[in-house]
Amino acid sequence: MQIKTVSLKQLGPFTELEATFAPTDDVKGNVTVFIGNNGAGKTSILKALATSLSWFVARVRSEKGSGSPIPEGVILNGFPSAAIDITLLDNHDFQAGQCTENNTGIYQWLLAKTASGKKANYISSLNDVTRLADVYRTALTFNEKTNLPLIAFYPVERVVLDIPLKIKEKHTFLQLDGYDNSLSQGVDFRRFFEWFREREDSENENSLPQAVIEALSIAVGNDPDIWKKLQSVMASSKDRQLTAVRAAISHFMPGFSNLRVRRKPRLHMSIDKGKQTLNVLQLSQGEKSLMALVGDIARRLAMMNPALENPLEGDGVILIDEVDMHLHPSWQRNIIKRLTMTFPNCQFILTTHSPLVISDCKDVLVYSLDEGELNQQPSQYGVDVNSVLLNVMDTNIRNAEINQRLNDLLDMIQEIDSAEKVKRVQDALGDLERELPVDHLEIAKAKMFLRKKELKYAQDN
Ligand SMILES: Nc1ncnc2c1ncn2[C@@H]1O[C@H](COP(=O)(O)OP(=O)(O)OP(=O)(O)O)[C@@H](O)[C@H]1O
Ligand SMILES: [Mg+2]
Repeated sequence: MQIKTVSLKQLGPFTELEATFAPTDDVKGNVTVFIGNNGAGKTSILKALATSLSWFVARVRSEKGSGSPIPEGVILNGFPSAAIDITLLDNHDFQAGQCTENNTGIYQWLLAKTASGKKANYISSLNDVTRLADVYRTALTFNEKTNLPLIAFYPVERVVLDIPLKIKEKHTFLQLDGYDNSLSQGVDFRRFFEWFREREDSENENSLPQAVIEALSIAVGNDPDIWKKLQSVMASSKDRQLTAVRAAISHFMPGFSNLRVRRKPRLHMSIDKGKQTLNVLQLSQGEKSLMALVGDIARRLAMMNPALENPLEGDGVILIDEVDMHLHPSWQRNIIKRLTMTFPNCQFILTTHSPLVISDCKDVLVYSLDEGELNQQPSQYGVDVNSVLLNVMDTNIRNAEINQRLNDLLDMIQEIDSAEKVKRVQDALGDLERELPVDHLEIAKAKMFLRKKELKYAQDN
């Protein structure tokens, strides 16, 4: 499933906004990133997509299900109604339980909201969302193991690590539960923890006890064929869904492995970081939020793709607001690469304030938002961060006052035509030098420029 386009009408800060999402004819990857100032409307776009997609989720659950309405406060001030018009491509076609591909699977629906006491400008038209959900419900009826597309929105308020110390009752986790809270709060770590514990219990029940493994390995000796068989029996007793989650975390966060639930001294979740074993609550904020995000996506994919050997290859749409949140620059740099490598068949729609996020990936569709206008930006792949800040994010690359003083200094050097002016430049240069760090590149450049000018002035006079 992929979102192709969305059109927002009189919603949030937008009178009318149309966006096309990657992959497009010229951008082959499946990542779209929105950048823009505070209040430009990035979150509004993601929220609108989540609202619209919630109708699909609701109607997969039940034929007449209702998703979230557009909140009244989101209707553009001064207008009676707002609408979200979405177009999706879903080329799954399930015939008698068999999945075939159908390239014309375009679905379009419009969700509208009118303020109370006003006359409507737009009327909801949700036939296609029913038709699309019907495709999946029919398929599930024929075959319980039909894969479902993941749809998830991770807002800025995504909660991090809420681990219940006691779990009173056991949940059963069904495939459709992969959609629980996926569009409202994103990371649901409490549920993640409960799910992990339940899967781990069943994994432990199905696996051979350690003592048996040890006894068998002594009995087997060095026979390579029997060893291979024993290993494959041991591997098959691993829970496929848990394996997917553990793999996603190790893949995404090299150095981290073996996420598990521990019962002593009290119930907690632990993970190995290099050679150390840590309670996940001991991880840093950045580590926690990444682990929770990746774990949540992987868990949902694992639940929703019972027919896939590797559930991380499941498809879906993932919306992440401020994807750079809490991340060190080196993590910001490769977050898109890691997401797309770990979850290769998901479409990502992201927002960011970081030039690093968009300068390290080739096939990314970048839009900047400015006063309600959407502008596609040329690829920033390999562009240095200063240029991205200057050209795309419309921001000074350094403190504005220092920038002004450096520019003034260069102008003064350029205009040197007297010994008095040389002295003035030297004084200004000395003042700046005292305020800036040693080895400041622009000061070194200005000094060289001044030296050249001084020589030229000496020669000419
Ligand atoms: N009903 C409305 N009518 C008019 N403008 C609105 C309405 N609702 C929200 N806005 C405007 O839309 C903007 C909200 O934008 P949004 O939260 O999407 O910004 P953002 O790009 O995500 O910013 P940030 O980077 O700070 O998260 C606000 O500036 C607000 O003034
Ligand atoms: Mg925002």
